[in-house]
Order: sequence, then C-alpha cells, then structure tokens
Amino acid sequence: MSHTNTAAIVLAAGLGTRMRSNLPKVLHPIAGRAMILQLLASLSEIEPERIILILGPGMEAVNDAVLAAGYSVETVIQQDRLGTGHAVQQAEEVLSGYSGNVLVLFGDSPLITPDTLADMLDVRSGSDDPAVVVLGFRPFDPSAYGRLVVGDTGNLDRIVEAKDASEDELATEICNSGVMAIDGKILFDLTAKLSSDNAKGEFYLTDIVGLANEAGRSCTIVEGDEEELVGVNSRAELAVAETVLQDRLREAAMENGATLIDPSSVYFSFDTQIGQDVTIGPNVFFGPGVEICDGVEIRAFCHIEGTFVENNAIIGPFARLRPGADIGEEAHIGNFVEIKNATVAAGAKANHLSYIGDAKVGAKANIGAGTITCNYDGYVKSMTEIGAGAFIGSNTALVAPVKVGDGAITGAGSVITKNVEADALAVTRSEQKTVEGYAAKLRAKRAKK
Ligand code: UD1
Ligand code: MG
Repeated sequence: MSHTNTAAIVLAAGLGTRMRSNLPKVLHPIAGRAMILQLLASLSEIEPERIILILGPGMEAVNDAVLAAGYSVETVIQQDRLGTGHAVQQAEEVLSGYSGNVLVLFGDSPLITPDTLADMLDVRSGSDDPAVVVLGFRPFDPSAYGRLVVGDTGNLDRIVEAKDASEDELATEICNSGVMAIDGKILFDLTAKLSSDNAKGEFYLTDIVGLANEAGRSCTIVEGDEEELVGVNSRAELAVAETVLQDRLREAAMENGATLIDPSSVYFSFDTQIGQDVTIGPNVFFGPGVEICDGVEIRAFCHIEGTFVENNAIIGPFARLRPGADIGEEAHIGNFVEIKNATVAAGAKANHLSYIGDAKVGAKANIGAGTITCNYDGYVKSMTEIGAGAFIGSNTALVAPVKVGDGAITGAGSVITKNVEADALAVTRSEQKTVEGYAAKLRAKRAKK
C-alpha cells in the first residue's frame, strides 16, 4: 500500500485539558497501546517518506514513546498553540521544498484506517489534481465540527467552523474530520495566507480550502465512516474509541477462524495473535504480548498477558496467565491457577487453585490442587523445576530454588525444600495420630455440659 511520495504531519500539541490527566492525551492507551502509536501504525502501512510530529512544550514523553516504539519521526515543538493552521506552519522549516503529497492527521483521532488514507492519496494524485482532499463524514451529532461547503459543481469551496457558521451552513450534514491530503507544492503558500480573524482567534487549517479555491485550484471530499473518525477529547470519548477498536479486533479474530461465544465480552490488545479453531468463552481479557496457537480452548473469565499457548491446550475457566507463561501442547490450566514466567510442557496439567511462578514444569506432569511455588523470599526470585511425569500432591509448597525429578511424587501437604530425585517420593508432613472412639467420647462429654 505504498504511497512513497507522501509526508505526514501529525498534530498533537493540544493540551487535552478535558482528559483531566497528567499524561499527555495522545499517550492514553487504546487496546493496550498509546493512541498516537495506534495512529502511527496505520500511517506506516502507507509507507510515508517522512513523518513530522507536532508537539507542545513539555511533551517529551510523547516523543520518547514514539521513538521507543521504533518510529522514525521528526518532532517539532509548537511553542504557542495558535490553532491547527499554525501547527501545520511549524512543519514548514523541515519540509521546505517538499513537493509530494502532505497528509495532515490529528494525534487524537487514532482510528483512521490505511485504506482510507490510501483512497485520499489516490484522489489527491488523480487527474483532477485537487489542491486539498478533505476527509468528510456525516456525524450523528455534527454540532462542534467544521462544515464542508460544497458548490454547485461538486467542488469543495470552503470549510466553515461551527462557531463561525450561519444557520444555513450549520444545517450542512457533511463535516470536516480534520484529516487532509494536500499538494505539498502549494501547502505552505496557503498556510502563509492564514489569518486569525475568526470566532476563536486561531489560525484555522481549514481556511486553506477557501484560499486554494481563490488561487484557482479545486478541492474535493473523500467520505469516511464516522467510526474511523472518533476524536478523543475526554475519557468518555476514549471509551468510545476503545469500543470501536475492540470491535475491529474481535471481527479480525473471527475472520481468522476463532469462535467467540460472546464477542462483546472479549477484550483484545492491539497485538493479540489468535490461531484457527480457537474457542474463546465469555469474559476473557487479553493484555499485550499474547499468542494463542490453533485449536486452543479458552474458557470463560480468563486474564491473559505476555503469554504463548501452543496447539490444543485448554485454559480456564478463571485462569490467570501472566508475562512469561509458555503453555505447551494439550496442557491444561484450570480454574484459579496463576502462571508467571513459567514453562508448562506438553500435556502437563495444573487444574485447580495453584501459583506457578518462575518454574519449569515437565511434560505430562500433574500439579495437584493448591500447589504453590514459593519463588520469592522477600529479596530474590528463584526457580522451581518439576520433571516430566512428576506428580505434585495437593497443597504442596515448593520452596525455590528446588527441583523435583522426572516421575517423582510429592505427598499432599508437603513443604519441599530439598531436591527430590527422579522417581522418588517426598513427604514432609507430620505423621497422623488416630485415637479410636475419641470423637464420640468428646461429643458425649460436650452434650452433658
Ligand atoms: C478541528 C477542525 C474542525 C474539525 C475538527 C474534527 C480546525 C480549525 N478545525 O477542530 O473543522 O471538524 O477538528 O475533529 O482545524 N492542535 C495542535 N496545535 C494547535 C491546535 C490544535 O497541535 O495549536 C492539534 C490538537 O492537538 C488536535 C488537533 O490539532 O490533535 C485538532 O485540534 P482541535 O483543537 O481539537 O480542533 P477542533 O476545534 O476539534
Ligand atoms: Mg478536536
């Protein structure tokens, strides 16, 4: 989907006051990653030559996050936030002489798809050679959006901001999403002519449409879907964006051959990988870094992050798989079992009420109910190794570092502090004392009182 003669300017200098947050708005996550990274991921699919990121003062954290995620952007600081037109002007120095297409995107509108961007660029480079292609949409509630004023010939004549619009103009259904594809040869000539003589006293980028028309160039609209154009200005809108993205991820998982019994209750991360013939029950949450192979069954109410699950394993209900969990083929991880930084080899079972942390569990080992790997002594974490085919009795505490050999058994209720040889039995509980008839005697005594 390469559009190589393209540069993108991403506007993200806004303060995001309505988020009421110490975190810059564009770093708030959707589907487990910062919204600016969601936008850059979509943008990268069209392979722009340059990405210019416009940030405000004190927003270094945004630049750091973008670089840490591996995007190569050129960051420019907009010292005073004088409007979207002024923000685009900030890119002039780094983009001077650039003659390709220039895409303008908003960092807080992260759901735009690569297909839509490609459509806009195709129209921009088409034979009509429009100076500006504006992504329009028909919002359910158009109130605060700029309105697209289309002339008799179908040309986009100008954009009027809601605050500056007449009654008639406000009745226009088609609105400005903010996303534009602009002819780079004329962009900065147009922004140089912007004035702040308007209701907000800002330099509006939207005015470049009227200015382009005055210069004898045409402008046009590509229409997009409202769902793609959700802008995030508040926590409520962040939740809307999350819902839209989750629906996309659910649909993709189902298209790839997974069954979601109740899709709306399954939450994915941006990078969740789900194989074929995977069945996911209701109320399952996937944090970042999860790969689920084919034929796996994930029963209801599981929380899974940073985990790899091999073919045909069964997980849950009510399992918690934490970062570093590596679950082998046909292994079973049952209810109220927590696994962290541990490999559970093929066919092993931990079906009930256990904590397996910093451990290696061999193939076909059986981990009894209530088994705990005591991996932390308050200072360091240590490893537990359980051999293939070992049988760990219920309620065993494995005090790490410790190894249980292949085929060994630990007795129920044991506290294992020393290594257990292969095929040995280790029991550490105290011996049982039985006093015949004592229970009946005790009851009789109590009854008398
Ligand atoms: C803008 C459009 C409006 C459109 C709407 C869609 C203008 C003048 N208006 O209005 O037609 O319907 O988006 O959501 O463009 N920003 C900066 N520096 C600034 C000002 C803004 O970087 O000085 C960034 C913001 O961080 C944000 C984006 O530009 O990402 C849009 O700014 P915002 O103030 O939200 O514009 P709107 O008033 O919503
Ligand atoms: Mg806005």
